[in-house]
Amino acid sequence: MTTRLAVIPGDGIGPEVVAEVLPVLDWVRDRGRDLAWDRHPWGAERYLATGEILPETAFETLRDGTDGILFGAVGDPRVPDGRHAEGILLRLRRDLELAVNSRPCRPLLEAHVPLKDVPAGQVWIEVFRENTEGPYCLKGVSEPGRATDFAEHSEPAVRRLLEAAFARAAERGCALTVAHKANVLKHGHGLWLRVFEAIRASHPSVPARGMHADALLCALVQDPRPFGVIAADNYLGDLISDLLAAFQGGMGVAPSLSWAPHRPYRCSALAEPVHGSAPDLVGRDLANPTGMFLSTALLFRHLGWAPEAQALEQAVTVALQGGAATPDLGGTLGTRAMGAAIRSRLTA
Ligand code: NAD
Ligand code: IPM
Ligand code: MN
Repeated sequence: MTTRLAVIPGDGIGPEVVAEVLPVLDWVRDRGRDLAWDRHPWGAERYLATGEILPETAFETLRDGTDGILFGAVGDPRVPDGRHAEGILLRLRRDLELAVNSRPCRPLLEAHVPLKDVPAGQVWIEVFRENTEGPYCLKGVSEPGRATDFAEHSEPAVRRLLEAAFARAAERGCALTVAHKANVLKHGHGLWLRVFEAIRASHPSVPARGMHADALLCALVQDPRPFGVIAADNYLGDLISDLLAAFQGGMGVAPSLSWAPHRPYRCSALAEPVHGSAPDLVGRDLANPTGMFLSTALLFRHLGWAPEAQALEQAVTVALQGGAATPDLGGTLGTRAMGAAIRSRLTA
């Protein structure tokens, strides 16, 4: 059956970085994969022009008619409360039940690690971020002089995330750390710890522990090498993954894949760089497309295309090692030249 992807470039630099990976889809097809894709112009521009966040049938089309989504970024200063971003990105993560957001940090160059005496090759951390709950799924309340947000944590979602994190740690033979603030968030993070304790006995090969998230951040900056998989709720996972972006060259480099371990629908993954729409860079040929390329590789691996994923990751590595760099990495290449430098390293 044809593998069908939806391409959603989104806002700001989203379309700029997505444009660089589209020729990689042609390359995959030329290698004999049965692949087709549709490009969808959903984002702030369309919302401001029509008042509609997504066309009526869009969600069902994605859910039942695609295998995965390539996503740029959403967010636009003209929509200050980000309601369209919520209605697109957060809705897709939640309603497609893309329960796990994997955000790997595997620095490719020594120069990309800002930490003293930490060799790049010794850092390999993956954040497993719960992607559907926490404070992201409930509406808060603003009253005069008071504002309240709510966070929801359900046992099935926490269990699903932790099972996936344990499985990954077992596969890699690395440690699992569960980030929490159960000393304060007694209800929600208390539930996380109870579920963690209940399932850890089924994974005796994985060295696993809970850690207060504040202490974890300190330990990560002091020495990230002992960490393997870090499981966290939606909010803490968001924060930790941006810290880890800084260990691998910055926001322009960090990749991510949101995926559904239980595969409830045909569409089971959404690849997106960790960065946002970077309004400060838009239209200036300054955005680094590396995170978009590495996210695309994560999607290929999820789709079962390991050789293509590896070839793409290798192309990124060789390009960076050969000196290709955008200004955020201290280089002079523009977005398009950086994209071309990476693609030129793709082997047939
Ligand atoms: P951001 O990631 O857009 O930018 C943060 C910093 O990183 C900026 O200095 C930016 O110039 C830099 N940066 C980001 N991507 C880069 C790239 N590819 N190359 C080089 N430098 C890069 O985060 P922000 O400024 O906090 O948010 C801007 C908008 O993006 C907001 O509307 C926010 O809600 C949205 N956002 C969306 C996503 C997403 O769609 N997944 C993720 C994060 C933020
Ligand atoms: C990310 C972003 C989003 C999040 C925002 C844009 C809602 O920061 O993808 O990391 O918090 O999940
Ligand atoms: Mn974020």
